[in-house]
Amino acid sequence: IVDRPLQVFHVEVEIKDINDNPPVFPATHKNLFISETRPLDSHFSLEGASDADIGANALLTYRLSPNEYFSLEVPTNDEQVTPLELVLKKPLDREVTSELLLVLKATDGGKPELTGTVELNITVLDVNDNAPVFDKAVYRTKLLENARNGTLVIRLNASDLDEGSNGHILYSFATDVSSNTEASFRIDANSGEIKVNGKIDFEEIKLWKLQIEAVDKGNPPMFGHCTILIEVLDINDNAPELLVTSLLLSIPEDAPPGTVIALISVTDHDAGGNARVTCSLTPQVPFKLVSTFKNYYSLVLDSALDREKVSEYALVLIARDGGSPSLSTMASVSVEVADVNDN
Ligand SMILES: *[C@@H]1O[C@H](CO)[C@@H](O)[C@H](O)[C@H]1NC(C)=O
Ligand SMILES: *[C@@H]1O[C@H](CO)[C@@H](O)[C@H](O)[C@H]1NC(C)=O
Ligand SMILES: *[C@@H]1O[C@H](CO)[C@@H](O)[C@H](O)[C@H]1NC(C)=O
Repeated sequence: IVDRPLQVFHVEVEIKDINDNPPVFPATHKNLFISETRPLDSHFSLEGASDADIGANALLTYRLSPNEYFSLEVPTNDEQVTPLELVLKKPLDREVTSELLLVLKATDGGKPELTGTVELNITVLDVNDNAPVFDKAVYRTKLLENARNGTLVIRLNASDLDEGSNGHILYSFATDVSSNTEASFRIDANSGEIKVNGKIDFEEIKLWKLQIEAVDKGNPPMFGHCTILIEVLDINDNAPELLVTSLLLSIPEDAPPGTVIALISVTDHDAGGNARVTCSLTPQVPFKLVSTFKNYYSLVLDSALDREKVSEYALVLIARDGGSPSLSTMASVSVEVADVNDN
């Protein structure tokens, strides 16, 4: 207002923008959850930043921190309606990378420029894409026969790279298991322990072949397999058996030495040393055992007889195996001496 004469002037003040506002994202941290099965070129929208300045001071450019999985797609039109998008350019694999931390940076066009950032925390979600795996296809183990019910045979340990229920393994005998197997062994579905459940008899089965299946709890589930060979070790639980076939019920007192009186065969159901049988005869008798073949003997006359001194012999045969402790069996053979007119 100018006085004398009174005059009114209008002044218009234009406030010039300076770049005093940085770009601001809606939040400084954003969590994204992306399944590992998403196909290449999938788009994931993001919210852009805003800048309170105007003109070039509010003209934003975006940059994503360098990484091998995602690139950034920025809308070309300057209306801020279209969201920013992450584009998948390399397949995700949770078993390789389960979490990615990226930084999205917005820079305005002011001089000097101001920036704003948002941290992107990308969690890769698991799908059941890994089967349980045993570290060997065939496991070999040994087990003493007559092992007590509950004896641990082997503890299996398969691994599954997936997480949670997709990696939770249950063990079982493969479905074609014989009832024989289930009567003799049991498997703990969770721990993978195989234990003795019934009688293990070397004389019945010397080698067990168990097919094992591991399945995860994913949907759909995935399977892994292995075979367990269990060699049963013999223990000396069978005594030798003696079979005596008498050829002569009585022997004339003038029979020559070497006359065969009986045939003896021995058997033992065990194996190895446990089945190596030696046969012996009561000492101090005019008879002896002659081995004719493996496990076959003849009882023969060893020296002259005289009915007028001893008219009958009660012989004892002992078969003893080589086990430790060893088992033995006895058999008695009586030999009558027949009279000859020699007096
Ligand atoms: C990323 O997000 C996951 C899941 O919400 C969380 O467990 C993890 O701690 C976060 N990482 C960081 C560095 O914030
Ligand atoms: C199974 O194997 C994994 C690694 O291979 C090991 O960390 C884990 O302790 C094992 N479990 C048993 C019960 O042996
Ligand atoms: C062995 O033990 C298990 C569990 O204790 C039992 O279910 C099974 O009947 C037993 N087997 C025999 C043959 O006694």
